Amino acid sequence: MSAFNFNSGSLFCEQVSLSDISDQFDTPAYIYSKQTLETNANAYVKSFTKPDSLACFAVKSLSNISILKLLNDMGCGFDIVSGGELYRVLSIGADPKKIIFSGVGKSKKEIEEGILEGILSFNVESASELYRIEKIAENLNKVAPVSIRFNPDIDSGGHDYITTGRKGDKFGISSIDQIIELSKYIKSSNYLNIVGLASHIGSQILELDSYRKSAKKTIELADSLIELGISLEFLDLGGGLGVPYNEESPPSPENLVSCLEKELQGRKERLVLEPGRSISANAGVLITKVEYIKDDFLVVDAAMNDLIRPALYKAEHDICNIKENTGVPKLWNVVGPICESSDFLAKNISIYADEDDILAIKTAGAYGFVMSSNYNTRPRACEVLVDGDKSILIRKRESLDDLLEMEIIGDD
Ligand SMILES: Cc1ncc(COP(=O)(O)O)c(C=O)c1O
Repeated sequence: MSAFNFNSGSLFCEQVSLSDISDQFDTPAYIYSKQTLETNANAYVKSFTKPDSLACFAVKSLSNISILKLLNDMGCGFDIVSGGELYRVLSIGADPKKIIFSGVGKSKKEIEEGILEGILSFNVESASELYRIEKIAENLNKVAPVSIRFNPDIDSGGHDYITTGRKGDKFGISSIDQIIELSKYIKSSNYLNIVGLASHIGSQILELDSYRKSAKKTIELADSLIELGISLEFLDLGGGLGVPYNEESPPSPENLVSCLEKELQGRKERLVLEPGRSISANAGVLITKVEYIKDDFLVVDAAMNDLIRPALYKAEHDICNIKENTGVPKLWNVVGPICESSDFLAKNISIYADEDDILAIKTAGAYGFVMSSNYNTRPRACEVLVDGDKSILIRKRESLDDLLEMEIIGDD
C-alpha cells in the first residue's frame, strides 16, 4: 500500500499533508516516506530464507545519509560505485563486510581505500582493473577480495541507457574463457582472493525470466570454476527490479528472491543482491509549484536539473495536483524554467492545475535527487523524510552562496 494518499481532499505522505510540507520547506522539495523505505527493504531482507543472504542497497539510486542509516539499521549492505559513496556509507557506520564496490572505472585511490577499509568485494569489470587491484594490494601488503562481473549477454528490456548485461555494453566481462583464465590467475595470486561471481543485467526489469536466465548462466560458470578447484563465497545476482511508474506490473522483491533462491537451491554460495530503485523509487515524490500557465504548458518551479529522468531516458512519471479533484482535468505538458527544450517533466498528462497549485511528481525517490545538478545556477532542492506525523529536513535547500562557495576569481 502506498504511503502517499488523499485524505480530506489533500495528498498526504503518511500522516503529514504535502501542503504543510510545502508551506514549511517551500518548493521544489523531495519528500520520502520512511514507512515505504522500511516496507521495501523488508521485502528483500525478510524474504531471504538463508540468514547469510545480503541485500546491498544501490547507493546511487538515493544516497542521503539519513536514508542510508535507516537501511543500514534494517540489515541492508551497500552496493557502491565511487569513493564518494564509500565515504557516505562509512560515515553512517556501515559494516565494510557488507559493502560491494561495482563500476568500470575505479581509480587507484578508490581501490586503495576499499582495500584498507576491508570491503566485502570489488566487482571487477576488466582484466586491467584486476591487475591494478593486485598491484595496489601488493603495495599495501594486503589481500584484496574480488568477484568477476560476468556479462551474461541478456537483454532485459527497457531503455538502452539502463540495459547493462548485453555483449557490447561496457559492463562486466562476457568471454567465459577470459573469466576462467582470470579466475585461475586470481587463485595463483598472493594478493587477490576470489570471493564471488557477479552479474547485473540492467534496470527497470519487469519480468523474472531475465533473472532466471542470468542466474542459470552464472551458476553454470560457478560450476566450471568449482571443477578447477575455485570455490566462491557468494553469487551476486545484481539489482534492477522494476517499479510501476504507470501501468507496469513488475514482480515483487519477494517473488524475485524466491525465484533466485530456487535457482540456487542446494548450493553453498550465499545469495547477494544489489537492489536500488525497487527500494527507493516509490518512497519519494518531488513537489513543485505551478508558476505560469501558457497555452498547454504548465511552467513549474522544478526543472530537469531537479529530475533529469524524463529528459535523459524519456522516463514517464505520474503527476497529480496535491489538492484532490479541484476541477476538470486537461492535457498538459509540464515544463521547467531551464533554457532547453528537453526541460520537461511530463508530456500530455491529464490533470487539473492552476497557477500557484502544488503538483507531486510521483515515484521520484530513485535516480531523482541524486542526479540533480546546478544547471542554470539553480540551487538543488531540499530533502524531507516523513516518519508518521513528523517531517524531518534531511538535506537543506542549497543557497546561492553555497553555489558560489567553490568558485575562485583568478588574479588578473
Ligand atoms: C552494478 C549495479 N548494481 C545495482 C544497480 C541498481 O539497479 P536498480 O536501481 O535498477 O535496482 C545498478 C544500477 O544501475 C548497477 O549499475
